[in-house]
Amino acid sequence: MTNTALITGASAGIGEELARVHAENGGDLVLVARRKARLESLANELRADHGVQVHVIVADLEKSGAAKKLMAQVDALGVAIDVLINNAGFGGHGKFHESGLERDQRMMQLNMVALTELSYYFAQGMVERGQGRILNVGSSAGFLPGPLQAVYYASKAYVNSFSQAIANELQGTGVTVTVLCPGPVATEFQAAGDLDGVKGFDLAADARSVAECGYRAMERGELLAINDRKIRVFLEGLLPFLPRKGVLWMSRKSMEKSS
Ligand SMILES: NC(=O)c1ccc[n+]([C@@H]2O[C@H](COP(=O)([O-])OP(=O)(O)OC[C@H]3O[C@@H](n4cnc5c(N)ncnc54)[C@H](OP(=O)(O)O)[C@@H]3O)[C@@H](O)[C@H]2O)c1
Repeated sequence: MTNTALITGASAGIGEELARVHAENGGDLVLVARRKARLESLANELRADHGVQVHVIVADLEKSGAAKKLMAQVDALGVAIDVLINNAGFGGHGKFHESGLERDQRMMQLNMVALTELSYYFAQGMVERGQGRILNVGSSAGFLPGPLQAVYYASKAYVNSFSQAIANELQGTGVTVTVLCPGPVATEFQAAGDLDGVKGFDLAADARSVAECGYRAMERGELLAINDRKIRVFLEGLLPFLPRKGVLWMSRKSMEKSS
């Protein structure tokens, strides 16, 4: 039986650690991102350390049609994908009406459209084979509106919702869907999204522990994984009962930069 995982955004952060966890479990990999040298270096490390097969595909998933092209490239490799990990994503900082639309459009394309299209394309083969796992990286941010990161928070609300809905639809097919909803994590995400100095990242978790949390939940076929217990209790036990304006105030405070 094969156990090949395709991971988007495998050149850094949580995706890179998810690739290491999968290889440690003896699984083969297709690593996807834009930075080829990073992917090649990780591929060499995983081949040498774990004797697994690793393919590298350079793809810019912000481009319209990129998911279909990626699917065709995987088909050309003759590899069946048993595990799809939709991890690539980025955020931003600033007021929506002042930030410029172009960046938000690229963010929506990557965080939502590419993730949706890849889930669609790869679910077909998984359902046919009667087995498969999809792990979508959403966010704790998807549980609430996020002033100063409005489109990012909304994009993650989409991922959280979409993933749970298709998990339900796929029941009985042998295919499970898990959504990983991390709190703040220390990765390149902060620098990429102009988030350095944002208060909410003061107590960021490490990427390895977040990857392990998501991977284990995916293996168990769980619906949702939140890496931090305090955040989980807050999001699931307290947040639904708080007044809307209070939630917005608190959410905005956590996104402000320390001067
Ligand atoms: N860090 C956090 O606090 C946090 C919290 C909750 C959720 N998340 C989510 O976790 C996921 C991973 O983020 P991270 O923290 O690991 O960030 P990261 O260190 O910045 O890694 C992001 C990954 O996405 C890839 N990527 C970015 N744009 C891409 C594009 N256009 N096409 C293909 N790949 C692209 C990057 O590779 P290239 O640049 O080489 O393309 C990189 O491998 C994201 O979905 C993020 O929203 C992060």
